[in-house]
Formats: sequence, structure tokens, C-alpha cells
Amino acid sequence: MSARIVPVNAETIARAAARLQSGELVAFPTETVYGLGADAGNADAVRRIFAAKGRPADHPVIVHLAEPADVARWARAVPETARRLAAAFWPGPLTIILPRAAHVSDAVTGGQDSVGLRVPSHPVARALLAAFGGGIAAPSANRFGRISPTTARHVADDLGAGVALILDGGACDVGIESTIVACIGDDPVLLRPGGIGIASLARVLGRAPRTAGAEAPRASGTLASHYAPKTPAMLVAPDALHAEIRQLASHDERLAVLARTVARPRETIERWVQAPAEAPAYAHDLYANLRALDAAAADVILIEAVPAGPAWLAVNDRLARATRGEDDDRD
Ligand code: TXA
Ligand code: MG
Repeated sequence: MSARIVPVNAETIARAAARLQSGELVAFPTETVYGLGADAGNADAVRRIFAAKGRPADHPVIVHLAEPADVARWARAVPETARRLAAAFWPGPLTIILPRAAHVSDAVTGGQDSVGLRVPSHPVARALLAAFGGGIAAPSANRFGRISPTTARHVADDLGAGVALILDGGACDVGIESTIVACIGDDPVLLRPGGIGIASLARVLGRAPRTAGAEAPRASGTLASHYAPKTPAMLVAPDALHAEIRQLASHDERLAVLARTVARPRETIERWVQAPAEAPAYAHDLYANLRALDAAAADVILIEAVPAGPAWLAVNDRLARATRGEDDDRD
């Protein structure tokens, strides 16, 4: 399996671009998470993404572009709000949903009349986009419903033979997915909190974007347990964590714990991970930490709740999804 993970150099970038041109899938690093890329102009290639991920075919995928100017080829209208957001945050961890251009396939849009566009800042993503010369459709490179990958190894562990080539760009800087803002009309709507904070959006837009209601375009990242580990996970307030551990340990439950401010107690714990205190570092490590905790084969993962403020919005969104029950749609 590891043979398909390749280091990044001029030869492997050219090889990856050639694979995309011939309709194959390539996994590549972005500043947020690793993406599973296909030629966005080739509907058959895009359909291979859904097969590799085990993802329903009616879910839209983001088209990654080399330059902000390329938006004109993929969207038929670009409202002023979208122009401002693009100017402020591209290249970077922001996805903008716009009315799709006529040629954009249903495989990309999930049959919707809109398309999600993003100009990533990661140098490897940019090099691949430049070498390929078109749009690259890419969801996160994980099995549908599982934890997003932030290293090449995560991609290989998840997708195995499902991907021809994995460009190894090391660990992703941001660590959680892009912020998604729909700019269909005059009123921008936040569909998914992510790498760009709400305060930064508000500064550029002059007000905070509306948050998604039932009528908003569907984003599969908003399905109930889209980021779930296999082990049941629960959030616990910091001041209740020791008591919860004591209680569960006394019932011989095998525990894995993602702590932040709380110190490790004396009870036997299969896996104790001490997460960084600040939100950006916490987000950077979050998915790798969840994978490590999941691998401990514990009965339950306890996650110390994090602060509620705007700086923690995207992290709280992902933690809430990771701790939803199995009754939710998780695949
Ligand atoms: O950071 C990211 O956004 C990563 C990297 C690889 O760019 N990509 C990513 O893709 O997270 P994915 O497919 O795992 O999540 C993208 C989300 C999905 O929830 C999808 O439904 C939504 O974007 N999306 C894409 N196009 C859309 C559209 N036209 N309307 C509404 N939601 C859309
Ligand atoms: Mg995803």
C-alpha cells in the first residue's frame, strides 16, 4: 500500500497531473485536509471519487482552481459578496458556492444548480493545479462518514487500493476543512464553519453571514455524524472529566481520552492524548488525535469539551459530529 505514497518533486507532480488527465484519481495535500482529486471536467473520473469514498453520488464535490480568475469558467454569476470573499481569502481555506456554469456536470454538483469553488494555498496543491491546467474536483480523501485525513498515511489507511497515487506533503497546516459560504443571492450563508473564522468573514462582508437553515443548499459535511470515529465518543465538561473516568473505569470500561486542560488521573486509561490549549493548534491536531484514540480499541472515547467562543466554532462543530450516536447517518 505504501508504494503509492510518493514524495513531492517535479517528476511526481507531472506524473500526478498525467494521471488526472487520463481520468484517474490522485490524492494530494491542501492546507486544510488531503483531497481525493479527479479531473472536474471529466464526469466519469468524478464518479470514480464516489466509488473510492463509498459516498452517495448525489453529494456535490468542491472544484479546486489554480487562480481566482478561473472562477469565471465554473460559475455563471459572481456576486459582489463572493468577489470580496475571494479577494480576501484566496488562495486559502474558503469554499464559495456559486451558480454553476452550464458545462459543469451533475457528477460535480450532485445535480444542484450551484458549484463549490476553492483556490487552495498549499504549494503542492497549487503545483498540481498548475501542471494539470484545469479544475480538480476533490472531496476530503477519507471513506465517506469517517475522519478526514491530514497526512498521506491517513489517506492510504482509509482508501487503500482506491487511489492510484498519494502525493506526500506532510501534515496539513489547518487540519480541519475549509469554511463554506454560499453566495447564490445577495445574502451569503455559512454552510460549514472551517479554516476561515466567522470574525474574519464578518470583517470582509460588513456583517456575519447567515447560518444555514433547512432551505440552504445541502453540504454533506453537515450530515449528523460526518466526522465520526468508530469508537463511541462523548463530550464531557472539564470539571466532570475525572468523575466520569472514575465512574466508567469502575465498570471496567476501556477508556481513551482527548484531554485539553485536565491532567491525567490515576485510573487505567488505554490512550490519553493531551491536546493543545489554543484553537488553531487544537484544530491542527484534531483528526490525527481522533484517529489515534480510535485505534486504541477502547469502549468509549471521552473528549474534554472546549470553550464555546467564536474561535472554537469549527472545532465545536467537528466535535459535535464526532460524538453523535450511531443512529445518525454515518456512512
Ligand atoms: O477543506 C476542504 O474543503 C477539503 C479540501 C480537500 O479542499 N474538501 C472537503 O470536501 O472538505 P468534502 O467533499 O469532504 O466536503 C465539501 C463539502 C461537502 O459537504 C459538500 O456537500 C459541499 O462541500 N458542497 C460542495 N459543493 C456544494 C454545492 N454546490 N452546494 C452545497 N454544498 C456543496
Ligand atoms: Mg469530507
